[in-house]
Amino acid sequence: MSNQNPKLSTIDFVHKIERNWAILMSVIMLILVLTVIFTGLHWAMMPPSRVETVRIASLETSSEFVESNLGSARSADGSVTVRILAQQYSFTPQCILLPANTPITFRATSADVIHGMLVTGTNINSMVEPGYISTFKTVFPQPAEHLMPCHEYCGTGHQAMWAHVKIIDRSSFFEMLKRKGVNGRLNCVN
Ligand code: CUA
Repeated sequence: MSNQNPKLSTIDFVHKIERNWAILMSVIMLILVLTVIFTGLHWAMMPPSRVETVRIASLETSSEFVESNLGSARSADGSVTVRILAQQYSFTPQCILLPANTPITFRATSADVIHGMLVTGTNINSMVEPGYISTFKTVFPQPAEHLMPCHEYCGTGHQAMWAHVKIIDRSSFFEMLKRKGVNGRLNCVN
């Protein structure tokens, strides 16, 4: 008798710990699921299952990534969409011009191998894969200059592959874009 009681209480103790861990794990999983739902609905963050493809063969002739369509453009809802083409070993545009305090959508794809796109000082960080369109929505709070290096090893010129992201005052940006006309595309150079 005197031997059984301590054993029983040890088993109870273990059961209690296991139950507490199970509750903790359930709470963590619930938080993760709610986070996914929240970011999906409120930040328009898409889970990886959202796949948008583009035909590489027609990339530079008839897709949205033709050279004349690359750069920053105004969308109907007043936001700005910037289209970027990555290829060994550069981004086009080489210098991306965007307005502060404006919803921005990045759309990027690759013409050859897997590249990466990372805007320093922000949470923009995505792979850029041939045949797929990488999208990213963001708002830059103030004028600034960022570097955008390729962060996926893509060949011997990888370390030299990077672009600039220049954020300027909202009104100056739209003034410049207006001068380019309805189908105008902006980058730092033009
Ligand atoms: Cu492109 Cu590394």
